[in-house]
Amino acid sequence: MNEFVLPLPDDFHIHLRQDQALAFYAQDIAKQFGRVLVMPNTLPPLTSVQSILNYKKAIQEAAPRLETLLSFKIHPQLKLQDLEDFKKIGVLIGKYYPAGATTNSEDGISDLEHIFPVLSMMEDLDIVLSVHGEEPSAFCLDREAAFIPKVQLLTEKFPKLRIVFEHLSSAKAVQAVLDMPDTVAATITVHHLTMTLDDLIGENLMPHHFCKPIVKTPEDREAIRQAAFSGNKKFFFGSDSAPHLKEKKESFCGAAGIYSAPVILPILMQEFEKEDKLNRLANFVAGFGADFYGIARSTQSIRLIRKEWQVPLQIHGVVPLAAGQTLQWSLA
Ligand code: DOR
Ligand code: ZN
Repeated sequence: MNEFVLPLPDDFHIHLRQDQALAFYAQDIAKQFGRVLVMPNTLPPLTSVQSILNYKKAIQEAAPRLETLLSFKIHPQLKLQDLEDFKKIGVLIGKYYPAGATTNSEDGISDLEHIFPVLSMMEDLDIVLSVHGEEPSAFCLDREAAFIPKVQLLTEKFPKLRIVFEHLSSAKAVQAVLDMPDTVAATITVHHLTMTLDDLIGENLMPHHFCKPIVKTPEDREAIRQAAFSGNKKFFFGSDSAPHLKEKKESFCGAAGIYSAPVILPILMQEFEKEDKLNRLANFVAGFGADFYGIARSTQSIRLIRKEWQVPLQIHGVVPLAAGQTLQWSLA
């Protein structure tokens, strides 16, 4: 098979940044995806109706054919009235960052109970809770597993609240999502599907493979792969593509985040083909996520062809995932 047609996919977790760089990143993802759910951890963060609408406009101007799905950041001063306003402009998610868990999360939440009223209102308004599921006080490789009890607690306290456990990185979290009710789903990235800690520190230190949550053991990766290939509707694609300039990554204190946007579909094609699961790819990138969020599935399509290409070493000053590697699938 030398050609493959997919419904135009959805990326349910992406960082497009801001200012001049935003246009580049939005245009890169628009080459492969029709809709993107943009994360709110800009500086300043997306916490008001006006900031969210301005952000949407900037993306529309840069990439007119890309549909933007909106988010807001949950922060300690959030007012209940804000939630109704967010709902009115069609915001899909409120993003929960534990304080200090990742890039630009210092203004996140340190006490989960503090935001129970917000979560209760989100449950009533049917706004999805998106969680960066890591407990910052735990050892780095155990942070995701340490966060699972919090998600469990949320399912008990707010049984109708829909929750997305973002960017799964551990076998324990995969199992937890399977065990939880259908109100809980999860996103899976290309990098957690393909890499382990060996790709970060096994031989040389590879700063461009550093992200939060950190890539983990072969067993963890295997559990994530099985989840993605399983055809279970709880697991769908979210890239967590998170560009940082080369200098910001190769520095005294390197930033967390992997720029995967330019290589997503070629790598997904390669991985699903390797496991003889190409028949499950359409639902993974263009079906289950839309269903979970309650939006219509994509009606457009995109064609991929078997044609080698070499991933550039840098794109707009950022080192992308798989830089310098030869990939087998290209966009037609
Ligand atoms: O590696 C990451 N980078 N993980 C996140 O959760 C945030 C992201 C970013 O914004 O750079
Ligand atoms: Zn993210």
